[in-house]
Amino acid sequence: MKLPTIDQIEQNQKVILRLDLDVPMSGGRIEDNSRLVKSIPTIRMLLGKMCKLVIVGHLGRPSFDGTLVSETSKQELSLKPVYLELMSLLEDGEDSIASVFVDDIENKEVIYEATENNQIVFLENLRFYKEEVEGKVEFLSHLSEIGNVFVNDALAVAHRKSASVLLYKMMPVFYGLGFSREIEKMAEFLLNPKRPVVLVLGGAKKDKLDHLSRLYKKVDLILIGGKLPIFMSEYPKYDNVIWAKLDSSQLDISKNSIDKFKEEIEKAETVILAGSMGMFEEEEHREGSRSIAEAITLSRATKIAAGGDTRASLGLMELEDKFDYICSGGGVALEFLANDGKLPAWDESFVNF
Ligand code: 3PG
Repeated sequence: MKLPTIDQIEQNQKVILRLDLDVPMSGGRIEDNSRLVKSIPTIRMLLGKMCKLVIVGHLGRPSFDGTLVSETSKQELSLKPVYLELMSLLEDGEDSIASVFVDDIENKEVIYEATENNQIVFLENLRFYKEEVEGKVEFLSHLSEIGNVFVNDALAVAHRKSASVLLYKMMPVFYGLGFSREIEKMAEFLLNPKRPVVLVLGGAKKDKLDHLSRLYKKVDLILIGGKLPIFMSEYPKYDNVIWAKLDSSQLDISKNSIDKFKEEIEKAETVILAGSMGMFEEEEHREGSRSIAEAITLSRATKIAAGGDTRASLGLMELEDKFDYICSGGGVALEFLANDGKLPAWDESFVNF
């Protein structure tokens, strides 16, 4: 059984299109637009089929004051810059495309009217609403009245039970070109990897460690760096998990840990890098990230990386091309690995590895 894909969509559909809009940002600027670039073929195919589009997605993890999103998050995590970047990528070398950014996502009339006028509608960050994160699909029911088809091309969030990921429960669903291609790649690289498998976990998102209790059974060794060793005391001890010691700045792993990790990487047949080893954005804290990424590229192992920030760090160090596969999402790759290929973004009747 295969996922239904957008080549099967008929002409002239009204599409609610879920994209990976969660790009690495710094000071309001997009640091790496790869996630947007990967969605362009899907958008073009849908436009080629004369479909009307309502684009939805999220950026970051907004904070709330009570039930309302905080003012700071509203400003810092608005999708407006992402909308502008996506439109400029789409228009590259072509005539301008009519579009509108709608910040009140509940304003059904505005969304309806714009789509009727053939404008691409781009909605503000869905995570400004608690219902999105809580997976209350009904909160998007007005979208299922405006659109008649749901297209999911947001692979990086396929492990979250967010409302906009579960929308397939309310509407007919098709998966985007990037999504379906990546699922095939993930199956190829993550379901039966050559052993020994070493998983290098890093970055700043603590919730990666929630996978630990399942992941340690799926791989031969887990090496943990980045910000994560700070939380070591909160997790059980596993024989095949090594936590890095951090250096005095706490923003990179120590020299000893670099050496130990390199030694283990050399023995691997498959290495999965999910997160950088330190604050790679600043050169003085990049040593761990660089040494470990380089050790992976020099090893004989099959080299897999996962995550938006991981890709950005490899891009910065010009090591991207040395990896066999870079998955656009870190969390999703870990969940796929931990849960034998099952993800909340599709019904198991579509595909079951
Ligand atoms: C990602 O960047 O991994 C996805 O956008 C999911 O983000 P999240 O970890 O905040 O749910």
